[in-house]
Amino acid sequence: MNVQATAEPHTATTAPANIRRLVLTGFMGAGKTTIGRLLAQRLGWDFLDLDAYIEARTGLSVPSIFSAHGEPRFRQLESAALASALGRSNVVLALGGGTPEVLTNRLLLEQTPATSTIFLDAPFPTLFDRCMLQDQARPVLADPVVAEARFLARQPIYRRLARLTITTDNLTPEETVSALLDGLVRSPRR
Ligand code: S3P
Repeated sequence: MNVQATAEPHTATTAPANIRRLVLTGFMGAGKTTIGRLLAQRLGWDFLDLDAYIEARTGLSVPSIFSAHGEPRFRQLESAALASALGRSNVVLALGGGTPEVLTNRLLLEQTPATSTIFLDAPFPTLFDRCMLQDQARPVLADPVVAEARFLARQPIYRRLARLTITTDNLTPEETVSALLDGLVRSPRR
């Protein structure tokens, strides 16, 4: 189900009763962390950012894991962190942009009960510009041409995984959270 930017402001403060984990996916710059924090606040749930969780578990920053050990090692650490994070309840989890590329991760997300994934979608130029304005090192963005190819390859993966897609480029973070909660009520269970 795709929720367009016309969603009316909504005051829902609960998730459907059968959901105990809300997972945000989308490319770098999609607002997963910002929206995730706000959403968790609105629900009175915990918020967990998968990159921050990996950094806390390893004592290393994401860019330093990439530069010292390579992307394949980062992906292993990411899968282990995801499995651990999905053990929690009443949590909003912001994935890394590449998390759903790994089949094991998609299976974990699809097979963990009471878990719904939401895709925060926006066009590549918007996402790229947002990332350039942020003071955050992202190894996967080093080459814009390669980054756009990854964006295109990931779009169908994000879309298939998600119960709900929200097009965010004309929404404020607050409106995105409202559209998301509203969309969850209206979208079929997965
Ligand atoms: C990555 C996205 C980053 C981080 C890592 C790799 C990717 O997370 O996991 O740099 O492959 O898209 P954000 O999407 O939170 O920036």
